[in-house]
Amino acid sequence: MHLGVESAYDKKTSIMKIIKTINEIRKQVSSAKSSGMRVGFVPTMGALHAGHLSLIQAAQKACDFVVVSIFVNPTQFGAGEDLDKYPRVLELDAAKCESLGVDVIFAPQVSEMYPEKFESWVDVDGEITQSLCGKSRPGHFRGVTTVCAKLFNIVLPDIAFFGQKDAQQLAVIKKMVSDLNMLLSIEACPIVREESGLAMSSRNDYLSDIQRADAAIIYQSLLSCEELFISGERCSNVLKSKITSMIATVDYARVDYIEIVDPGTLEPVEIVEDKALIAVAIEFGPARLIDNIILSLNNV
Ligand code: PAF
Repeated sequence: MHLGVESAYDKKTSIMKIIKTINEIRKQVSSAKSSGMRVGFVPTMGALHAGHLSLIQAAQKACDFVVVSIFVNPTQFGAGEDLDKYPRVLELDAAKCESLGVDVIFAPQVSEMYPEKFESWVDVDGEITQSLCGKSRPGHFRGVTTVCAKLFNIVLPDIAFFGQKDAQQLAVIKKMVSDLNMLLSIEACPIVREESGLAMSSRNDYLSDIQRADAAIIYQSLLSCEELFISGERCSNVLKSKITSMIATVDYARVDYIEIVDPGTLEPVEIVEDKALIAVAIEFGPARLIDNIILSLNNV
């Protein structure tokens, strides 16, 4: 904790607030900041699972005042994607946040974030947004960077916490923060997995029990690829084909991409010299699942 004993804000007796307006969240954060608190921010779209909870815990460790946003951001969904069916369970989410000791939930309506005549967008150009998920979800990252820039401007956190599962989102957000000189740091937190190894995601709930069990092949294939790397294989095509062949054992799984890229720039890597990100997106029936692993000579 970074709090002095005389802090005006008594954390122990505070009750978690759910705030819907920008004015009110600004007041809350500014009052915490004027008491000398470090503000941690966990942006989410709700349907909180253990992955989100680990971000909240990381925020609590590093900061004194934790804001969680819950906002299903319409601008990051393309036509025909799952905006309408995306789970909205604010009461359940609030109970989870409260039990962890979150200070404030910011849960605005769409009209609060995107009033009529909203016309300003934040767009990170280049390979970093156009490769991987950017190819099959055009406009997705423009929606993510725009909403995150707005949320950062509203909450003014010292640190924002993002999961490594969305490796491309993390790289894009870091680039935006650096290019636009935003005054916060971005902390990446490790992927949290189900017992089977499947990466936690709100979209796992779209899967039937059988599909959920089958989807464990994704992480197994990443681990087998890592083993191949550890045993000396450096050629990306060979490493990727290991994953392709394992995914092919599930007949209804459709590969969107399997790529080996530089973890910072997301540019393709042909021969893994030192460190590389293997990122995959696989359609498993009703859910498009993403996962990744970092190959590093340090682990060899
Ligand atoms: O990762 C997510 O849940 C979303 O993309 C985010 C960062 C909350 C922006 O809407």
